[in-house]
Amino acid sequence: MFCRIRSAVISGVDALSVAVEADASTGLPMFSIIGYVSSQVREAQERVRAAMRSCGISLPPQRLTVNLAPGDIRKDGTRFDLPIAAAVLGAIGAIDPVILSETMLIGELRLDGRVEQINGVLPSVLCAKKAGCRACIVPEGNQAEAEIVDGIRSIGIRDLSDLIRYARGEWDGATAADSVSAEKDAERIKGKQKEVQPDFADIQGQEQMKRCAVIAAAGFHNLLISGPPGAGKSMAAQRIPTILPELTRDEQLEITKLYSIAGLLPRDQPLLRFRPFRNPHHSVTPAALCGGGRIPQPGEVTLAHRGVLFLDELPEMKRETIELLRQPLEDRHVTISRIGGTFDYPAGFLLVAAMNPCPCGYFPDRSKCQCSPAEISLYRRKISHAMMDRIDLHCEVKAVPYHQLTAVERMKGEAGAADDSAHMRKQVTAAVRIQTARYQDLGIHFNSELQAAQIRQYCPVTDDAGRTLKLAFETLRLSARGYHHILRVGRTIADLDGSELIAEGHISEAIMCRNCD
Ligand SMILES: Nc1ncnc2c1ncn2[C@@H]1O[C@H](COP(=O)(O)OP(=O)(O)O)[C@@H](O)[C@H]1O
Ligand SMILES: [Mg+2]
Repeated sequence: MFCRIRSAVISGVDALSVAVEADASTGLPMFSIIGYVSSQVREAQERVRAAMRSCGISLPPQRLTVNLAPGDIRKDGTRFDLPIAAAVLGAIGAIDPVILSETMLIGELRLDGRVEQINGVLPSVLCAKKAGCRACIVPEGNQAEAEIVDGIRSIGIRDLSDLIRYARGEWDGATAADSVSAEKDAERIKGKQKEVQPDFADIQGQEQMKRCAVIAAAGFHNLLISGPPGAGKSMAAQRIPTILPELTRDEQLEITKLYSIAGLLPRDQPLLRFRPFRNPHHSVTPAALCGGGRIPQPGEVTLAHRGVLFLDELPEMKRETIELLRQPLEDRHVTISRIGGTFDYPAGFLLVAAMNPCPCGYFPDRSKCQCSPAEISLYRRKISHAMMDRIDLHCEVKAVPYHQLTAVERMKGEAGAADDSAHMRKQVTAAVRIQTARYQDLGIHFNSELQAAQIRQYCPVTDDAGRTLKLAFETLRLSARGYHHILRVGRTIADLDGSELIAEGHISEAIMCRNCD
């Protein structure tokens, strides 16, 4: 007999429909799995055989062929165990395959028949819905994730015998988990809100750094913070996601898909609602940073998509590793080529980097720092010009003075507390809205994406501002690059101010934000 079951394979950030076909015929007893599959998929036959035996079904002495179509997409991983088992059960007549039509199956099997959680469930269920399926059978541990998708039923199963009961019409697929899951979800969200979220109000003083954070978030400008250890650089970086505009539902789904594929979705939080913050160590490998591996996996730049990628101690990173960031910074996505195909991952992150001003960290405080000028310049030169070119904002911070650190703590949201995250986010959101409207036909979203030619059109300056710009250009001996940086940042500062023209005050502030020139 012949039986076809629907499943899905992960390719890049999406899932593609796969048909798992099984054929049982008379002939020499054997079991083969074909269709451009990896050895991991081929091993499924041993798991399927043992899992079936644990349910009291042994394979008849027949010739069994399983084919995974289409044959031109590489199939890897253990997610096909469950559909292979179902197809074989259908082919030998142990279940009624009609019940499983219009149903997608994914899941890994254990020898004792248990069904194990897998990665990439959300994109698979989205694919099932697109393919017109009515239901999706997934491991119980993945059910909450599958339920994110509306308009398709998700059935979580614990073991192969659940599947057999369902496919024989002995169980309707409703579990105790179904009815309580909505309640649980509401509870979970409430719990999350009660947890203390990081907030800019936690940072005492450092007004300049907070202002830079608002500008960076408003125009999606990459930001470099330099200053002595313990000044609050890491604290500020961590809090930038809290002032970026809230994610839309589509953006939440997009990010959740990436984390699902990477296997990093927290069990208690199937839908990611907050912007990501990634903080890889400076010894991070190229593959971990940009993605890769034998079975391609998203890297840090992709996991930071729509959020913040924080690189602490930037000069400690290998120069070659830093340079790898240039492509994703430019294109907002990364491309990985493998034998199995070419994969494209989104990488639209906001880069926030931190560095000490010198190897010991305390320059220009000469009571603590004894680094020589040569050492200091060598340290700073570790970051190439090409990289600096992609960082619009440069903020220098000093250690917090005692009187600010001990200032009476203001309550979050209290009148006068102008520098908590909620207030800062309001400013950012207003400026983002202006940019979205201005660039809707251009295919860009933020001022930081303006190209040289576009700058002339979209960054009109007042006469005063023009004079200041000219003066700065001559006295600071700016490059064309520096000039464009200042105009882009000036544009964002004017947008924060709600001004169509870039005025003198906006330009002066933009110049102050570029003190590396
Ligand atoms: N401006 C600040 N306000 C309040 N606490 C601060 C401030 N700066 C530093 N701290 C304290 O110092 C610790 C280290 O700060 P961190 O942000 O890691 O410094 P850096 O990254 O600049 O070395 C923080 O966890 C916090 O307790
Ligand atoms: Mg730090």
